[in-house]
Amino acid sequence: MLILGIESSCDETGVALFSTDAGGTLLAHALHSQVAMHQNYGGVVPELASRDHIRRIIPLLRTVLASSGRALAEIDAVAYTQGPGLAGALLVGAAFAEALATALGVPTVPVHHLEGHLLSPLLSGNPPRFPFVALLVSGGHSQLMRVTGVGNYALLGETLDDAAGEAFDKTAKLLGLGYPGGPALAELAERGRRDEVKLPRPMLKSGDLDFSFSGLKTAVLTKVRELAAITDQQRADIARGFQDAIVEVLVSKAIRAVALSGLQQLVVAGGVGANRELRRQLDAAASRARIAVFYPELEFCTDNGAMIALAGALRLQAGLAGKVAGAFAVRPRWPLTDS
Ligand code: KG4
Ligand code: ZN
Repeated sequence: MLILGIESSCDETGVALFSTDAGGTLLAHALHSQVAMHQNYGGVVPELASRDHIRRIIPLLRTVLASSGRALAEIDAVAYTQGPGLAGALLVGAAFAEALATALGVPTVPVHHLEGHLLSPLLSGNPPRFPFVALLVSGGHSQLMRVTGVGNYALLGETLDDAAGEAFDKTAKLLGLGYPGGPALAELAERGRRDEVKLPRPMLKSGDLDFSFSGLKTAVLTKVRELAAITDQQRADIARGFQDAIVEVLVSKAIRAVALSGLQQLVVAGGVGANRELRRQLDAAASRARIAVFYPELEFCTDNGAMIALAGALRLQAGLAGKVAGAFAVRPRWPLTDS
């Protein structure tokens, strides 16, 4: 089976072709990031995002067909992100996928964006096996899930306010860094001194697996205000203090979730999973706890079409039928446990 995957939930247009033959192979994938376009506005402008997806989607499809040497007529199903995300951006991918599948006479597979993220480590050379615990840390979500199989997800804990990526982005803005803030803040933190700025560890001892990150951003705001004129070193120290706080909470709760679930594998997915300090600390804690940690390849940490093509393929293989192409609705807000 040849599955086309389309991602357009936010500021990246992703298209990929996945073949289920020979144990499953990603044949080609292509991505266009809108970061440069939104940078001028300090964040994602939804209307511009939708229009850009329209411009990019067909050229990206042509690219993956050309680089895989496959023809449109060979496609057996079209998977696309149905939600959650920006309504207008989702509509572009959904309308395109449904129209193309109608023309080809093949089914569509509407995919939950977070399902794509949490299955993305299966694209790597050393994939995890079901069941595992997933730490999903993206710009819109921070969740711990028990993943028993494809389509079988139980929520163990989640953020009560800001998502981890959102906290990175908002804090970066407070420190005068550009959009997207996460990678910029992480880079600045590398130059910061450990324990020079000590910030709270929200809900570290709450006894449950939930998170709360909005207070951290406020703590940073207070620190910045205390300093009349902020030096580059002070900014780096604050970035370091922020990153260390968020990483400590994420690592502690993720390891605890695996221990409580009685499993031995942890999968980390979503954009914040690209954070180097998070990876360093998780690897160290996991090895102490004798847990195996799995990350997606760096290019599949942030939004991409490959994870959507893979999720579509795995859903079809698991007998979770696709739908007849044609009528559709997007789901800008959509809990993963309802998928
Ligand atoms: O998964 P993703 O690409 O999009 C969503 O589904 O939200 O995640 C994007 C988020 C942004 O908040 C971005 O700042 C954050 O991931 N991010 C990072 C890093 N790279 C991306 N946060 C911290 N450190 C990074 N290296
Ligand atoms: Zn995402």
